[in-house]
Amino acid sequence: MRLRSSEWFDGEGLRAYSHNARLRQLGVNRDEHLGKPVIAILNTWSGINPCHMHLRERAQQVERGVWQAGGFPLEFPVSTLSETFQKPTPMLYRNLLSMEVEEILRSYPVDGCVLMGGCDKTTPALVMGAASAGLPAVFVPAGPMLPGNWRGRALASGTDMWRFWDEKRAGTLSSGDWAEIQEGLARSPGTCMTMGTASTMTAAAEALGLTLPGASSIPAVDSAHHRMAAAAGARAVEMVREGLTIGDVLSREAYEDAVRTVLALGGSTNSCIHLVAMAGRSQIPLSLDDFDRLSREVPVLASVQPAGEHLMEDFHHAGGVRGLLSRLRGSLHLDRVTVTGRTFGEDLDGARVHDPAVIRPLDDPLSPEGGLAVLRGNLAPDGAVIKYVAADPALWRHTGPAVVFHGYRDLQARIDSPSLEITGDSVIVLAGGGPRGGPGMPEYGMLPIPDRLLREGVRDMVRVSDARMSGTSYGACVLHVAPEAHVGGPLALVRDGDLVTLDVAARVLRVEVSDEEMARRRAAWAPPPPKFERGYGALYSEHITQADKGCDFEFLSRPGRNPEPNAH
Ligand code: FES
Repeated sequence: MRLRSSEWFDGEGLRAYSHNARLRQLGVNRDEHLGKPVIAILNTWSGINPCHMHLRERAQQVERGVWQAGGFPLEFPVSTLSETFQKPTPMLYRNLLSMEVEEILRSYPVDGCVLMGGCDKTTPALVMGAASAGLPAVFVPAGPMLPGNWRGRALASGTDMWRFWDEKRAGTLSSGDWAEIQEGLARSPGTCMTMGTASTMTAAAEALGLTLPGASSIPAVDSAHHRMAAAAGARAVEMVREGLTIGDVLSREAYEDAVRTVLALGGSTNSCIHLVAMAGRSQIPLSLDDFDRLSREVPVLASVQPAGEHLMEDFHHAGGVRGLLSRLRGSLHLDRVTVTGRTFGEDLDGARVHDPAVIRPLDDPLSPEGGLAVLRGNLAPDGAVIKYVAADPALWRHTGPAVVFHGYRDLQARIDSPSLEITGDSVIVLAGGGPRGGPGMPEYGMLPIPDRLLREGVRDMVRVSDARMSGTSYGACVLHVAPEAHVGGPLALVRDGDLVTLDVAARVLRVEVSDEEMARRRAAWAPPPPKFERGYGALYSEHITQADKGCDFEFLSRPGRNPEPNAH
């Protein structure tokens, strides 16, 4: 087997001489690395990402595994995408990280890689970049943090914060309690311990066959996480020797199984965007219609917040993704290969559920259908998404007058105004939160219910936007309306008082306004100025696709020639 890295290091020419001299500068003699697979460890650790604060240390365990298997590890720091801190949203930078990953793998002497991430956008970004590069790749999920705690009660990151924020605004929670809760919300390194976007996407990576079996739910601070990291490093070396690439693992069948997994988890709506974009990098067709079709077949089995009751550590001890998939075994594609070199079915052999209250049986699901629905209609010709399993069922079919906001600042400025004409039956509409308009499609989608209505006891309302929603959020929030308002989608034309209809069973999102009137409004509509005139933002705005297409850059998802660096 000729290693890709040998193009840099083998031979007696000046190039190899120079490269080996510089490895000596790194403290590595030629006989320590020569002929060994070079494994790039792509690490999204940074000082600003609390979800990944353990990954610097964990990379050492990956290195241990690589050395033990006879490889040569090299760690590369890559963009960190901290969900909490990066503004306007890390979604703006998902594609940038994916480009960085692809180009690092392409331009350096790398034979295989280990991808280290987990905080929301890092998982799709790492997989997208690695899929485009096409080398052997193993994903190491960061793992969920420990459950939060307040006075002996478990706290869910995100989910409980939103819930208690509403109680505080309703006047039912004191400022002292609110301050105490802050201390217990996030107790350890690791990703949000609900079934938010992080846990949803790492579970999807496991279902795709990109992690070692059972890896995605191991708590970040568990000693099993150290051992998994070392084993992943070793496995990356073996994959290089076996010639098993990420392209062999990712297939249409793998993505179907990943969608089934997300649905059975009651997972984040963000997966509808990320999985479409990830599949697109391998030219695998995956659409919102696949989510909707499979959602009608797959029951929600995982009782994990926000759709259910438990937290990720409970889910892990109940059997994790392997346990969940043991329930769905009959509908999965078991013959496809995974990073283990075995079939998906072999990886699932012996998997069991240890707590049926957390991973429910097929005949007693949390919901008989998957929790996501794809809506269409004159308000969303290219689709919109709702996680109805996390919404008040009384709102699954609802018609109400629109209260429209244009942009998040407008919403913040007016939502609690005493003069705002709004009731619990109103439909709150936010236009201008999409991929270009947001910009970056921020997680504004759980639009706030006015203080006044909260005090009256209202806890859920129909809300419609072209934005996204945190996977830890909940409520009757219609999201990802496509095309977005900023590019002239119908959401831009809705006015206060227009009746908006949501019908989950019929998969409809409609504004009760005639085609003629909508055409009149369209003729009077003027496109807003671009958000960016220079820099990465301008590149982003010029090339981003809409939500139903995964919000990738069109030049990254298309096939085409991209020669090896040493071929130039
Ligand atoms: Fe990082 Fe939730 S903020 S996973």
